[in-house]
Order: sequence, then C-alpha cells, then structure tokens
Amino acid sequence: MTAQNIAPAPQDLAASSIITDECSVTDVVVAAMAGAENGRLRQIAEAFVRHMHAFAREVRLTEEEFDLGIEFLNSIGQASHDLHNEAILFSDAIGFSTLVCLLNNGQNGATETASALLGPFWRMNSPHTENGDSIVRSPTPGPALFAHCRVADPKGQPLAGVEVDVWQASPVGLYENQDANQCEMNLRGKFTTDQDGRFWFRSVKPAGYPVPTDGPVGDLLRAQKRHPYRPAHLHFLGFKPGYKTLITQVFVDDDGRLESDVVFGVTRHLIGNFRPGEGTPPAADVTGPWYRLDYEFVMEPGEAKLPKPPIK
Ligand code: BEZ
Ligand code: FE
Repeated sequence: MTAQNIAPAPQDLAASSIITDECSVTDVVVAAMAGAENGRLRQIAEAFVRHMHAFAREVRLTEEEFDLGIEFLNSIGQASHDLHNEAILFSDAIGFSTLVCLLNNGQNGATETASALLGPFWRMNSPHTENGDSIVRSPTPGPALFAHCRVADPKGQPLAGVEVDVWQASPVGLYENQDANQCEMNLRGKFTTDQDGRFWFRSVKPAGYPVPTDGPVGDLLRAQKRHPYRPAHLHFLGFKPGYKTLITQVFVDDDGRLESDVVFGVTRHLIGNFRPGEGTPPAADVTGPWYRLDYEFVMEPGEAKLPKPPIK
C-alpha cells in the first residue's frame, strides 16, 4: 500500500490522527481524547497532555533523556510494594504533594494551612488507645513526651468524638514498618477526643530522619545535592463525620532542619512548642529529660473521608 492510498480525504482531516509536524501533535492528541464522557477526566487529561508537551518543547527533550525519564518512572513502580510507596515519596520530594495540600486546604490556598502532606507511612488500622496511654509499644530510646492536644471547630468550640490517628518515627529515624526492631504498630495509636475536645498521650520526642534513599528518589536527591532529612515531627489525622478530615503534622521547634524539609511540609503554623519538662515528671518511670507538647487543632465543617492508605 502506498502512502497515497492511506492519505485521508480532505474532508476527514479534522478528525485525523495523522501528524503533519511537531507543532500539530498536541492538538491532534487532545482532539483524540475529547470523547471522554467524564468531563473532569477530559479536563485533566487535556491539561496533562498540553503541559507535558510544553515541557518537552521548553527543554527540547532529547531521546536519551526521554529514555531516562521512562526508566525513572518504571523504577518508581518497581520500588513500590505493600510496605513502601515510592510514588508518593517522589511526589513529596518535588513539592507536588504540598502543592495539592495547599490547593485543597486552608482558605482555598490563600492562607497558610493547618494541613500538611500525609506522607507514605500512614496505616489505616492503628490500635485504639485510651487517653493518657502510651504509643510506645516496644522499647524505644529517646526523651519521654507528654502530648496534650485539643480539637476545636473554627469558633473555638470543642469537638468531642474526633478519632485522631497519631503516628511518628522512632528517634532512630524509622517507622515501625521499616524497622525489625520495633513491634507492630509501635508509635501509632488512635485516640478519641473527650467532651472538651481533648486527647492526650505519652510517646517519645520525635527525631528528624532521612526519607528512604535506596530507590530512584534517593538517586534524584543525590544528583540535586539535597539532603534527605525531614525535621522531627508527629503526624495527626483527625476524623469526625460532618467535618473535613484534617491531615497534618506538628514539628519540633528545636530541629535544625525546619528550614530545609526535603518534602516541603513545614508551615510556621505547624511548629509546635515542645517545652522541656520541669519539676516532677508526669510518670514515675521517667528518669531522664522529658518534654511536654500542647497543641490545638481546628477542624472545619465539611466532608469526612479517609485517604487511601499509602501502605498496608
Ligand atoms: C513522613 O513524614 O512520614 C514522610 C513524608 C514524606 C516523605 C517521606 C516521609
Ligand atoms: Fe513522618
């Protein structure tokens, strides 16, 4: 068959996917996708294609670079499994997770938000824990921490019955699912706020830690001469029907890396006041230094929905 035989009749050119040159490819692809019945899919796919094509044009992407990019994407998939989510890590490391968080929380992104990225380590079924109990479930080094928190609505009224998930890395810098030396669900717990909107628990003061660097995101960070550390923090997820689920983190104020979080999660609002304990410790077995954190969370009326857990 000759090229002439397959050339479209002039009246079919508008619907044709035959590419004439570099300039025409974007419009042709967008037109080919226009049949999607879901309008939001149509909008997202079209914008994605336009921006990807514009990106390739802007940097004049070479074929070698294209191959490297595809290899990078493949390696993100290959590095991910039930206990590790490299795709979220990548999104976090390029600030994309924080951007999406800021777009969807706070006053339509206009003000500093009380939310922060979920990260790759939230697990859905952390153990229900009574107020005042400890989330230290296996021997864990570090100064004791006594956290006293309150959840209120935007008018300052206490919110009772909020389920608050708490999770953190050990002072060794690993979440329990990354560390054979910690028991299942160590440093994780789910609390329920009382009539005054309060929940409180014991833990250990978190330490900063490096995000996993043994995969493609680690390669990227090294190539960009970036350190892999997150400043010390606790994660919180507040859930109550009728209120927008609050996903956030509270950062330790004396951490030297607050200004250079590798995943861009820190806002000033989220820097907690971790006060060194003075006088008699709140528990008899505390012999060394200890800290107290007081923090107030605000949850707005809205839709309560849980994110998809990044790991099992
Ligand atoms: C975390 O805080 O758990 C986290 C967030 C982003 C990347 C890696 C870890
Ligand atoms: Fe974390």
